Amino acid sequence: MAIYDDVTERMETLESLRESEAKYRELADSLPIAVYEADLEGRMTFINRTGVELSGYSESEFLSGFSVSDFLVESDRPRAASTIGRILASGKPSSGEYSARRKDGTAFPVHVVSTPVIKEGRPAGLRGIVIDISERKRAEDEKRSWEAALRQQQKLESIGTLAGGVAHEINNPINGIMNYAQLILDSLTAESPLRVHAKEILRETDRVANIVGSLLTFARQDKQAHSPAAIGDIVESPLRLVRTVLRRDQIILEVNIPPDLPRIKCRSQQIQQVVMNLITNARDALNERFPGADDDKRIVLRASECERDGHRWIRMTVEDHGAGIPEAVRDRIFEPFFTTKPRDHGTGLGLSISHGIVRDHHGEMHFETEVGRGTRFHVDLPEEIGWALEPPDGGPGRA
Ligand SMILES: Nc1ncnc2c1ncn2[C@@H]1O[C@H](COP(=O)(O)OP(=O)(O)O)[C@@H](O)[C@H]1O
Ligand SMILES: [Mg+2]
Repeated sequence: MAIYDDVTERMETLESLRESEAKYRELADSLPIAVYEADLEGRMTFINRTGVELSGYSESEFLSGFSVSDFLVESDRPRAASTIGRILASGKPSSGEYSARRKDGTAFPVHVVSTPVIKEGRPAGLRGIVIDISERKRAEDEKRSWEAALRQQQKLESIGTLAGGVAHEINNPINGIMNYAQLILDSLTAESPLRVHAKEILRETDRVANIVGSLLTFARQDKQAHSPAAIGDIVESPLRLVRTVLRRDQIILEVNIPPDLPRIKCRSQQIQQVVMNLITNARDALNERFPGADDDKRIVLRASECERDGHRWIRMTVEDHGAGIPEAVRDRIFEPFFTTKPRDHGTGLGLSISHGIVRDHHGEMHFETEVGRGTRFHVDLPEEIGWALEPPDGGPGRA
């Protein structure tokens, strides 16, 4: 009888053990975060369903001798190992962010909180949770790049305003200098050695006057009205201007503008200035890469219609197979006066002025580039919005 009682009791204990195990298993599996356990060597001894789903490994793969750090990218493993050592030595929990690796090799960010498993007063292993934080990271990255773009925009605007103001101040004295230099020149005899100096003053001030002139045009944004125009017509006159120059440099120009594109309402002179600036830059980049003739020495001007956020836009692209823009300067090319070109050649104003014009048209400008392969500048202009005469916030360079 006593034996019988003993057996029944043991079966009941086993049964309730099984029940409690099933209960904890169910609890662990129902959690939307990964739960793991590992032994003293860091080898996995338990993983819940979310852990399996997150990683792409099956449960039996998990428990076949993998260690905790095998689920991390290589570069994070030393840090994880030292954290595990610290947790076991101190008996205190610890948390951190790591880059986890799925079975298919892709990585994703996780937040891990681990705590020691204590048995009979001594650490016997490790247990913890792993949370997939991809969404949070993505949101943070987005916020960061948006803030960077905003800062860049504000910087361009303030420099533009400043430059416009300075140009205004410089305009009068520079005219004065030119006039006096001309007076000196006129008063000198034909043989005077000073003629060279006076001419040099005129030449240099002429250069300053040019810069000041383009800054002022930009700052004033001459009040030409927005009127509907076809892209093909808009680019006609700048193309006529540059064709000869390009031919002299042995640059092939390809123009691909479908005649049936809708017209856009714009200040066409300003759009022409943008096209001129982009083609001039493309030409410089090509001449830098190919001093002589080359099959690849070509500029392609394209226009097409596209849809963005439910609106119709026109995209103009100027593509060159020139030198490309080095990573180190990509952030700066839209800044006024930023140039990588020799003195006498670049003013560093082309892109900043173009950027301001495109923004005033409620458009956007961006580029793709590869060093040694070439660059593509895109100018996106909305077809229907952007008809207001003033930009929403005054725009850059309006002193
Ligand atoms: N198509 C291009 N290919 C390579 N670099 C370019 C291109 N367009 C612009 N850049 C770079 O951007 C800089 C600024 O251009 P921009 O504002 O037009 O001034 P600038 O042409 O007077 O230097 C250039 O000096 C050059 O380094
Ligand atoms: Mg330029």
